[in-house]
Amino acid sequence: LCVMKEFPADFLWGGAIAANQSEGAYNADGKGLSIQDVMPKGFSGPITEEPTPDNMKLVGIDFYHRYKEDIKLLAEMGFKAFRISIAWSRIFPNGDETEPNELGLQFYDRVFDECKKNGIEPIVTISHYETPLYLSKMYDGWLNRKLIDFFIRYVETIFTRYKDKVKYWLTFNEINSILYEPFCSGGIYTDKDKLTKQDLYQAIHHELVASAMAVKLGHEIMPNAKIGCMILAVPIYPLSSKPDDVIATMQKQREIVFFADVHARGEYPAYMRRFFKEHNIEIKMEPEDREILTHTVDFISLSYYMSLCETADSAQKSNSKGNILGGIANPFLEANEWGWQIDPQGLRYMLNELYDRYKLPLFIVENGVGARDVLVEDENGQKTVLDDYRIDYLRDHLLQVGEALEDGVEVMGYTAWGCIDLVSASTAELRKRYGFIYVDRHDDGSGTLERYKKKSFYWYKRVIESNGKSL
Ligand code: BG6
Repeated sequence: LCVMKEFPADFLWGGAIAANQSEGAYNADGKGLSIQDVMPKGFSGPITEEPTPDNMKLVGIDFYHRYKEDIKLLAEMGFKAFRISIAWSRIFPNGDETEPNELGLQFYDRVFDECKKNGIEPIVTISHYETPLYLSKMYDGWLNRKLIDFFIRYVETIFTRYKDKVKYWLTFNEINSILYEPFCSGGIYTDKDKLTKQDLYQAIHHELVASAMAVKLGHEIMPNAKIGCMILAVPIYPLSSKPDDVIATMQKQREIVFFADVHARGEYPAYMRRFFKEHNIEIKMEPEDREILTHTVDFISLSYYMSLCETADSAQKSNSKGNILGGIANPFLEANEWGWQIDPQGLRYMLNELYDRYKLPLFIVENGVGARDVLVEDENGQKTVLDDYRIDYLRDHLLQVGEALEDGVEVMGYTAWGCIDLVSASTAELRKRYGFIYVDRHDDGSGTLERYKKKSFYWYKRVIESNGKSL
């Protein structure tokens, strides 16, 4: 039996979305193309030359035109925080211009003003898998050091513009995902199979420097702002108690925490020296890079969906079940329809590990379960979704957040992923839904885009109202 633990009084309850998965209006008001506009199958399928009508992101859920109605619904649930991203290509359509697109800037002014009107704190991701396509094609994305300059121009523009409207900023969404999805995450146009580890870690270095520069600049422009990194957090468990498996697990976990280590400690960790040596990697650094990296983050934010296992046994490795990181499935856990294994305790474990390591506040900015929803009529004839499976998933995870709080971990907030249904990142489907709010839009392009409150909407409202006491 679980007794609910106390959540801090100022806990930032809310939800999260990303521009490319929700806004639609892919070419409105001077927006340039982003890499997402040529990814009709998400990162699990091929990219196209031009945007094609089967790409669900071109319309998204039309948040671009419906943000007022949507923010009102979030406010009705009692949201304290709403995580969105700014579409880089709305502000700099190609990415390498010297002047920003005023109409793009005005859109986010309207969104932030609407949040404020509704008492909601915006949490803003600067780069969420939406590098301008031009920067990807012409420069090969983050493989090219020039991206740092383009990024910083964009960052300076949005910091200066929104300094009085936005206090919480995240630099790169799931920065470590570049290792697995270099196009989606790092805008690297070169084929994944042609990229060497040297290439990837060079691109990573550019992002790490850019992220630290953003932290430095942010603190100068907005002394009260809190700027964090964002990590795809996946706890890795040894598949067996064999010491070889334990060491393999340590290495696999370092592949992930390396990114948080640099952001939080301001330098490359010692273990990377060996890793670079053994893989013949030589990172090209400029003399100023070391100093730049010392500008460390104010907090660590993370997404959490699943845990994975690791083994040193290559025969077992080849049996592994794939998901975003390509690890090994845990025989003790169940998975959702897309093979993502559900492990609420992994969240408590991860929060403790990260807090022990850095003593920095943590912010869970993504968590949730993708599921097919069925729209039904309730007893009053209102359309709704009876999504008890979603409530169960979120409750189980929030109970573990409570445990972590009790363990002494500082958790700033929790923003449920896809609080309103949106287009999936990995598969670009709409049928993989996460929301408390159902959006009538389907993978064949049909649907009215009407919004309906699911059963979880009322549940989450009570959770927030009671500050986590009523789970
Ligand atoms: C994270 C991303 O990887 O997981 C989100 O930051 C994404 O953009 C989320 O939507 C869930 O993944 P998916 O593939 O189910 O949309």
